[in-house]
Amino acid sequence: MRKALVTGASSGLGKYISIQLSKKKIRVIGIARDKKKLEKLKKYIGNKYFDYVNFDLKRIDEIENITNSIIKKEKFFEILINNAGVYKQSNLQNTNISEINDLIDTNLKAPIILTKILSKIMKKNKKGYIINISSIAGKIPIKDSSVYCGTKYGLHGFGNSLNKELKNSDVKVCTIFPGGINTPLWKNTKYKPGNLKDSLRPNDIFKIIDLMLKFGKKINFNEAVITPTIENF
Ligand SMILES: NC(=O)c1ccc[n+]([C@@H]2O[C@H](COP(=O)([O-])OP(=O)(O)OC[C@H]3O[C@@H](n4cnc5c(N)ncnc54)[C@H](OP(=O)(O)O)[C@@H]3O)[C@@H](O)[C@H]2O)c1
Repeated sequence: MRKALVTGASSGLGKYISIQLSKKKIRVIGIARDKKKLEKLKKYIGNKYFDYVNFDLKRIDEIENITNSIIKKEKFFEILINNAGVYKQSNLQNTNISEINDLIDTNLKAPIILTKILSKIMKKNKKGYIINISSIAGKIPIKDSSVYCGTKYGLHGFGNSLNKELKNSDVKVCTIFPGGINTPLWKNTKYKPGNLKDSLRPNDIFKIIDLMLKFGKKINFNEAVITPTIENF
């Protein structure tokens, strides 16, 4: 059975991706903090195609052990979707050190570490897809979100450099740069990316993931930028 590790599976995009992958008979292991939401998703999808690990990706030093124990149980992951992320809209002086650490740990350090662990096994097994969910804020600077932009630009550079490193291997890396998506991420923010109902839907992003998973080993599908027409990029 094909297997995927999806971070941030409890909400928004990650939850949607998990459901869609399971419909394609890909077993998903979801990682997130909210156990109740993960349990609800497990009930919805069913045990065969979904299980979860209730884990806070900010616990950077524990990621390796946790991931190794997941791999021990599931044996092999062909797909890694680094989707978990936090958004903070504030200018730099209004962002405290703990918030800076949270953003960098969740959005950048955790995906880098997960990629390091899983890509090693993918290389050995001669197949693998690593999909990083950056943001349009990883291509174009957004005002009053400098730390978030920094993490998403970081993921951009990481993915592109890793692409060169893995170019002739069987492991493919794709970075997706979405504009505003209608998800709970915007629930508590003052700024919204235009009218949310005209924003992207999780399914728009999933179409890219689905396309990537259909490409064979001879194609490098490095980047996908997708924005709704209401945004002025
Ligand atoms: N929505 C947009 O407009 C938009 C645009 C461009 C890019 N993105 C990116 O898309 C990704 C998904 O965001 P979304 O829109 O689906 O937002 P969301 O609904 O808020 O979901 C974020 C997910 O990340 C998980 N997460 C956050 N911190 C975590 C941590 N420390 N440990 C483990 N999991 C954690 C959350 O789970 P728990 O809270 O249960 O831990 C949740 O499942 C993010 O990387 C975001 O930056 C979003």
